[in-house]
Amino acid sequence: MLLSMEKINKIFPGNVVATNNVSLEVRQGEIHCLLGENGAGKTVLMNILYGMYQPDSGQIYYKGQPISIHSPKDSIENRIGMVHQHFMLVETLTVAENIILGQWKPWKNLKEMEKVHERIKNLGEEYGLFVNPNALIRELSVGEQQRVEILKALYRGTDLLILDEPTSVLTPQETVQLLNLLRGLADKGLTIIFITHKFEEVFQVSDRVTVLRDGQLVGTTDTAQTTFGELAKWMVGREVFMDLDRSKSNSKEVVLSVRGLQATDERGLLAVKDVSFDVHANEIVGIAGVSGNGQTELALGLAGLIEIKYDRLELCGQELKKITAKNLDRIGFGHIPEDRQGMGLILPFSVAENFILGEYNSEPYSHYGFLQNRQIINHAQLLVNKFSVRVSNVKEEITNLSGGNQQKVVVARELNRNPNFLLVNQPTRGIDIGATEFVYQQILKQRDAGSAVLLISTDLEEVFKLSDRVLVMFEGQIIGEVPPDREQIFKVGLMMAGKQVEEELA
Ligand SMILES: Nc1ncnc2c1ncn2[C@@H]1O[C@H](COP(=O)(O)OP(=O)(O)O)[C@@H](O)[C@H]1O
Ligand SMILES: [Mg+2]
Repeated sequence: MLLSMEKINKIFPGNVVATNNVSLEVRQGEIHCLLGENGAGKTVLMNILYGMYQPDSGQIYYKGQPISIHSPKDSIENRIGMVHQHFMLVETLTVAENIILGQWKPWKNLKEMEKVHERIKNLGEEYGLFVNPNALIRELSVGEQQRVEILKALYRGTDLLILDEPTSVLTPQETVQLLNLLRGLADKGLTIIFITHKFEEVFQVSDRVTVLRDGQLVGTTDTAQTTFGELAKWMVGREVFMDLDRSKSNSKEVVLSVRGLQATDERGLLAVKDVSFDVHANEIVGIAGVSGNGQTELALGLAGLIEIKYDRLELCGQELKKITAKNLDRIGFGHIPEDRQGMGLILPFSVAENFILGEYNSEPYSHYGFLQNRQIINHAQLLVNKFSVRVSNVKEEITNLSGGNQQKVVVARELNRNPNFLLVNQPTRGIDIGATEFVYQQILKQRDAGSAVLLISTDLEEVFKLSDRVLVMFEGQIIGEVPPDREQIFKVGLMMAGKQVEEELA
């Protein structure tokens, strides 16, 4: 056993139990996945190993010895490396400078720096990890930056490498590359702990897997000995049925028709350059893309929250010269926004009040300017039951609810209005599997009821699961359309990276 963490406890102020008596054993040379939902305690456990946090109790054995790690410096000395979810690179420095950052200052000495470059090149060749040592970090893609982080760990000398959700920022192609790279590293004797919440990756890359739930250890197993279903059950504590039942959509009725839409971002730069598409009744059109390619501005523009330009826009058969809240209201518009806490909800308000946002001055919630509390509470009670929101009292402030339950409130409020056009942006970001499944079912139900749904998401799995058609957005433009077949995922990944697919596949 290379590493053994025994009965690790960590409680944060406010009595947040991050890890509760968690034990983890990692064998020399294996790829060990740490699987769990958001908030399960994966990052905290690994940050304890890396010396970022001190455990309240528990013991760590490494290479047969009990060790105490008080800071990352200690873990680095023990040849433990970690690639965090948010990279710790200095954007304005070069690759080489970042790799030796904090070690010594050889850039004062050209000869020394040449040696550094030489070693980086050698490491690159040895592990198939090529990055130009002279490139500035800010000029590199996210995938390349991640490779720099890995190189940095290897350069210092690492026997145990921890990666925290490394694929969450990557395209499918980059993900495949990374998983291959990790296999190669493990074959050369490196031990790897790979944090993820995606089952697919567990089966693609790991030898063994440990599942955490709510800060507790659920179990460890050989990956070859387990199944998707079992791991899912371990992860959420019950059966999961993520395959969605759906009928084919063949409506010809255009609900939203957009031609030549343009929008600028907060810096005034053109973020949506020239976008045209239709969404039909009874249809979910998914927009896939790496975040930051104009999706946010497109959504805000369609919701009337920022000014946009277009050649022509029709909603429910009416041509709109301008998108205004009033227009949207009249037409029947529902919006599940990307920024749930900033836009979807008013956090200091109660759950009940959040259910009537946008309607608080109309009957039956308001009568001659007075809020009708009984009506408001009844309405909330109804929706809480109908949409299984977990809350003990609808008068409770919504800020006290979990992310998943907050999202259920937004979904319940918007869908209860039975919109003709539903705009959905990142509907399940940061929420648990149970709530995700629920949100998916509700969106599909709304589509089956006849709504036109525009779904924007950076989660490809999500886009493919829900959409009837998939559009790919890159640098402010829609660069292609594909049917939501599994086999197309790879192609979409190429398009998301701005590749000309025909060339690439030829
Ligand atoms: N620095 C912190 N202060 C307080 N609570 C924290 C801190 N870091 C994590 N937590 C809490 O500990 C729990 C586990 O978090 P984390 O390990 O980040 O989960 P994940 O499995 O998603 O990586 C969560 O409830 C989180 O809110
Ligand atoms: Mg985490």
